[in-house]
Amino acid sequence: MDKALLKQLEAKYLALGEDPNIYLKGLLYSKPTNYWDYIEVDTLLSLQKPKTEFEDETVFIIYHQITELTLKLMIHEVKQMSQMATFDSEKVFLEKLKRLSRYTDMLITSFEVMTEGLDHDDYNKFRMSLAPASGFQSAQFRYLELMCTPTLNLVNDDGLKRLSEKPSVDEIFENIYWRDAGYNRETGKISRTLKAFEDKYLDSFKALSTATQGKTVWEQFQNIEHPSENLKFRMKEFDHQYNVKWQEKHLNAAKKYLEKKGNTETGTGGSAWKKYLNPKHQQRSFFPNLWKDENILDWV
Ligand code: HEM
Repeated sequence: MDKALLKQLEAKYLALGEDPNIYLKGLLYSKPTNYWDYIEVDTLLSLQKPKTEFEDETVFIIYHQITELTLKLMIHEVKQMSQMATFDSEKVFLEKLKRLSRYTDMLITSFEVMTEGLDHDDYNKFRMSLAPASGFQSAQFRYLELMCTPTLNLVNDDGLKRLSEKPSVDEIFENIYWRDAGYNRETGKISRTLKAFEDKYLDSFKALSTATQGKTVWEQFQNIEHPSENLKFRMKEFDHQYNVKWQEKHLNAAKKYLEKKGNTETGTGGSAWKKYLNPKHQQRSFFPNLWKDENILDWV
């Protein structure tokens, strides 16, 4: 038995004001860890609950869950970037960006599970039982945006025209780009999908937007003195992957399943999706200032 290790353990628990012997006895009785307990496999595999008899609905559910887990990985990184206090070196920031790009790449390259991996007619039947639910209601998708860029960057050109000189958080969220998917500004009509989404999450979006003011990935990047060209490249790479490449894949899936002989079927969330989902229309970018001389839509 390693005596130095025992001494270290003793010191650790004494420093906490605890009796080390109790913890050592605990080790004597505790069961060894098993994979299935640690990874919570049973819980994870019990979370797929199709609403219809169509086999491919399970594929659809699991792939959405994989995406949500991937978004959780990304938020995990972005949170750390937002909490970084010192920027003497860009090394850590760069590592985090590489991780974000890697995760986004996973989303891009795996999207064929949707575009190629669902039976077209079955999908168009089982999706009817899901309305008014829509991927649009993914809160993590929005949390990530709010942590990457100042919320004002999530207001498109038309929205900016409607804003007052010093818009409040409420005003910004009334005009945020994603409301275009379900809010008709002429009639005041709001879709069920958007209403349910806002009822559940709007307060948390506003709280996050306020809490991350000055600490978004974009603002943290600006704290780095003399950022290298490589770092700028990585920032743009992630922006492009997330806001153009992945969105293109998603749009292609919508086109494949929802366009039939010139007809455009409505998505379960009821948006004018062909326009709304198109990166050319959205022109969403987390780091627009880095694209001054170029266009995010034309990039590699
Ligand atoms: C067959 C596959 C898919 C189709 C046909 C599809 C279709 C759509 C449509 C039509 C919309 C617009 C809102 C609406 O009217 O419902 C939408 C939004 C959205 N979907 Fe999907 N979707 C698919 C897969 C996915 C997957 C796997 C995810 C991952 C979570 C996802 C996440 C989203 C998100 C985040 C939005 C909002 C995008 C934004 O606001 O820019 N979708 N989807």
